Amino acid sequence: MLSKENIQKTLPIFEIRNVNLNYGEKQVLKNIDLNIYKNKVTAFIGPSGCGKSTLLRCFNRMNDLIENCTIEGTITYKKEDINQINPIDLRTKVGMVFQNPNPFPMSIFDNIAYGPRCQGIKNKEKLRLIVEDSLKKAGLFEEVKDRLKDNALGLSGGQQQRLCIARCIAMAPEVILMDEPTSALDPIATIKIEELINSLKKDFTIVIVTHNMQQASRISDYTAFFMLGEIVEFNETIHLFSNPLNKKTEDYITGRFG
Ligand SMILES: Nc1ncnc2c1ncn2[C@@H]1O[C@H](COP(=O)(O)OP(=O)(O)OP(=O)(O)O)[C@@H](O)[C@H]1O
Ligand SMILES: [Mg+2]
Repeated sequence: MLSKENIQKTLPIFEIRNVNLNYGEKQVLKNIDLNIYKNKVTAFIGPSGCGKSTLLRCFNRMNDLIENCTIEGTITYKKEDINQINPIDLRTKVGMVFQNPNPFPMSIFDNIAYGPRCQGIKNKEKLRLIVEDSLKKAGLFEEVKDRLKDNALGLSGGQQQRLCIARCIAMAPEVILMDEPTSALDPIATIKIEELINSLKKDFTIVIVTHNMQQASRISDYTAFFMLGEIVEFNETIHLFSNPLNKKTEDYITGRFG
């Protein structure tokens, strides 16, 4: 498990304690204990249906929107129980990027300005600065600076995904949750997103679900391996991949099942 020395160097932004989650009668997460560390990338890996997306959705209370979902245990965000935080505020601080890029059917500029406008920012210059800064951080500005008024749906898939990341950044979040953000992209667009994730961690904390083991080992600092709703192993990525402590982890990362 994590060395004491390493834990002291990093600050948990989320602390998950003894979380059990059910969809109706079906238990999907079991006794989850986990810390998510600030300005680090944490990867969730594991076979399909093991609860990775479900846990990710817990972090910004997206499961609240699912009718038969019940959650026990505690999750704190910066030491505060997330159930005490207004969900809209929580989702501003904890943004999400999905598997399939989902730009709004409007201009590139308006996509990014949408959130800030909803928050009441009307000043044109201020909006322009937010849009520019977000696109730069998402590594997209140079490619789109001359076509900000064009419809975002005209961008390539990889560009659309970076646009969605920029849209998320425009809300000035602290955490960005990414659920298989590159699974719909070609290898070159994937590498661009991976490089981007690496550069984003100085400003943000990132949790990413991925089925791509190489991706997890390339970009994450910590990895949690899930099976059947439980975390089998959580460790620094380098150790989890080079020296897994659990036989099940070893079998999974060497492709023996899953
Ligand atoms: N809204 C829901 N209602 C009922 N069951 C659900 C719901 N969402 C997910 N599940 C079930 O919960 C389990 C965990 O699903 P989840 O989507 O978290 O898995 P996952 O690890 O993200 O899988 P994948 O790698 O395929 O995306 C699955 O058995 C799934 O069928
Ligand atoms: Mg999933």
